[in-house]
Amino acid sequence: MGVRGSLLRGLKLFGGSRVSVRPPRQEPCNSGARFAKCAKQKDPAMTLRDAAAAVRENAYAPYSGFKVGAALRTPGGQVFTGCNVENVAYPEGTCAEAGAIAAMIAAGETLIAEAYVIADSPEPVPPCGGCRQKLAEFAGLDVVVTLANLVGVEKVMTLGQLLPGAFGKGHMDPA
Ligand code: THU
Repeated sequence: MGVRGSLLRGLKLFGGSRVSVRPPRQEPCNSGARFAKCAKQKDPAMTLRDAAAAVRENAYAPYSGFKVGAALRTPGGQVFTGCNVENVAYPEGTCAEAGAIAAMIAAGETLIAEAYVIADSPEPVPPCGGCRQKLAEFAGLDVVVTLANLVGVEKVMTLGQLLPGAFGKGHMDPA
């Protein structure tokens, strides 16, 4: 149905005057604060893994063919997701983790309590080096990052294990 059709459908004649009946707004479930709410409503068993696997489906990876999904949980329980978005100018592509972090920051949240990364890989997929550093901007080194593949193999690590010798603010102090 076209836009006109749906608008006409939304108009009802009522007592001689036209009453606009808005169709219920469809909230996207796979990003931002809305995810937790939608997840609760639609499937109470939805996990960080489900969130990462779901958003992975939307990855834009025509060059590598390698779709990645990432999900982050804040200390308050909000879930943010991201997928990789490639570009014909290859270095302009972005990783799934970067997308999830951008969604979190855009929603006004700045702390990661837990992270999950998933891809179709023989071994659970590890975040790339750059993404480890990006996660470290918003997560303590004790934060659990779960690496996963599509057949259910998971590797549970801390950010500190993934990024030993992390570069931090303190390194910019003069000696
Ligand atoms: N990729 C991610 O999205 N996250 C990572 O941590 C590893 C790599 C993406 C980038 C690129 O689109 C594809 O995987 C192949 O490198």
